[in-house]
Amino acid sequence: MKNILPTPLQYKKNKLTFDGLFLDKIAKVRPTPFYLYSKKSLDFYYKSFTSNALKHKIPSPLICYAVKANSNSEVLKRLKTLGSGADVVSVGELKKALKAGIDPQKIVFSGVAKTENEILFALNCGKRGIYSFNVESIEELELINAVAKKEKRIARVAFRLNPQVNAKTHKHISTGNKTHKFGLLKADILEAMSVKEFWGNTTLVGLSVHIGSQLTDMKATISAIRELCILALEIETPLEFLDVGGGLGIDYTQDDRSKLASIETYMKAVSESLEKYYFSKNNHVPRIVFEPGRILVGKMGVLVSRVVRTKTSDNAHFTIIDAGMNDLIRPALYEAYHEVLPETKSKKLIKTDIVGPICETADCFGTQRSMPLLQSGDLVVIDNAGAYGHTMASRYNEREIAAEYFI
Ligand code: LLP
Repeated sequence: MKNILPTPLQYKKNKLTFDGLFLDKIAKVRPTPFYLYSKKSLDFYYKSFTSNALKHKIPSPLICYAVKANSNSEVLKRLKTLGSGADVVSVGELKKALKAGIDPQKIVFSGVAKTENEILFALNCGKRGIYSFNVESIEELELINAVAKKEKRIARVAFRLNPQVNAKTHKHISTGNKTHKFGLLKADILEAMSVKEFWGNTTLVGLSVHIGSQLTDMKATISAIRELCILALEIETPLEFLDVGGGLGIDYTQDDRSKLASIETYMKAVSESLEKYYFSKNNHVPRIVFEPGRILVGKMGVLVSRVVRTKTSDNAHFTIIDAGMNDLIRPALYEAYHEVLPETKSKKLIKTDIVGPICETADCFGTQRSMPLLQSGDLVVIDNAGAYGHTMASRYNEREIAAEYFI
């Protein structure tokens, strides 16, 4: 079955439109490059995620949107209005989530390097602090306990389990194996449970797992949930929640479309695994937390750019654009494929390498792409740039960070 996920882009009479608006009109008043996000698309993916959770009878689902995917304040405000919580990995992300109005009691804090100051801030935000510190090491647990003691507070913690499963994805974004720095092995969690000194000012409220990103196949996800449930059953404390992490992929390529799990397939897999490995063995019903990032925001955004010039060199043809790897690093970092679309369609196509202005050969959005022969000033759009675009942008080569527009 092919999964073509809806996108705001569509050609009308060979001219590219975004949410029904002509792109050349949008770009007329905005200097390129810029990121363009669609509110309609964001709403669609959020609602589709939550309605599928309910359809598959996930108990009191809490969506903690992974802020690292896109931390634009308008995007966060919209997600807050839709009911979302947040998964954050730094005090910077936490402050942005709070500024957008997200309830601290809907915020989980992941990450292997939480510092004392970050813990202090998270513990004291709102009336009761954050919903959960998703703890990734024993050392971190000790520090949280110490900080909470000083503050005379009780910190709510969850262990992030490293389930030792192999997620089929790029090696840079696979996180669920014991060679990875993330999470704790089951034996270490069980041992930490028995050390009284760790629990003076902490209380265990949940367990979490996250095995990687851009996951298309559900096998590893199911195994991870199985491991999470086995551990939850072994722990005698009744847990308030089980956090199944994020990771659901989107279609960047045709090939992705043939193997991609839809939101529906994903929810069904989550629901069936929870039933099989937990609910069927236990009367206790914890709430289920999700940490989706890319699936909510990946398809809603594009990077709009203009051609600076074209160049030939022997047999090679280059279309040089004004967006670079500093605006979207995914092709350079993960050899990720992003569709590049001309604003005006043409039947006459050439093969060209689409490259940016940065002084690195890796600053390339695609080689041997079929494109019209473009001219200086022509618009192009790099698709699927809503997730991990702007949040990973840098000022390399003293470039400005490109503006974001949410329409
Ligand atoms: N929860 C945790 C603890 C995470 O580390 C992540 C992503 C997520 C949730 C959200 O995962 P998502 O649903 O977006 O797959 N820069 C890479 C992706 C890095 C993902 C890091 N962690 C990329 O551009 O592909």
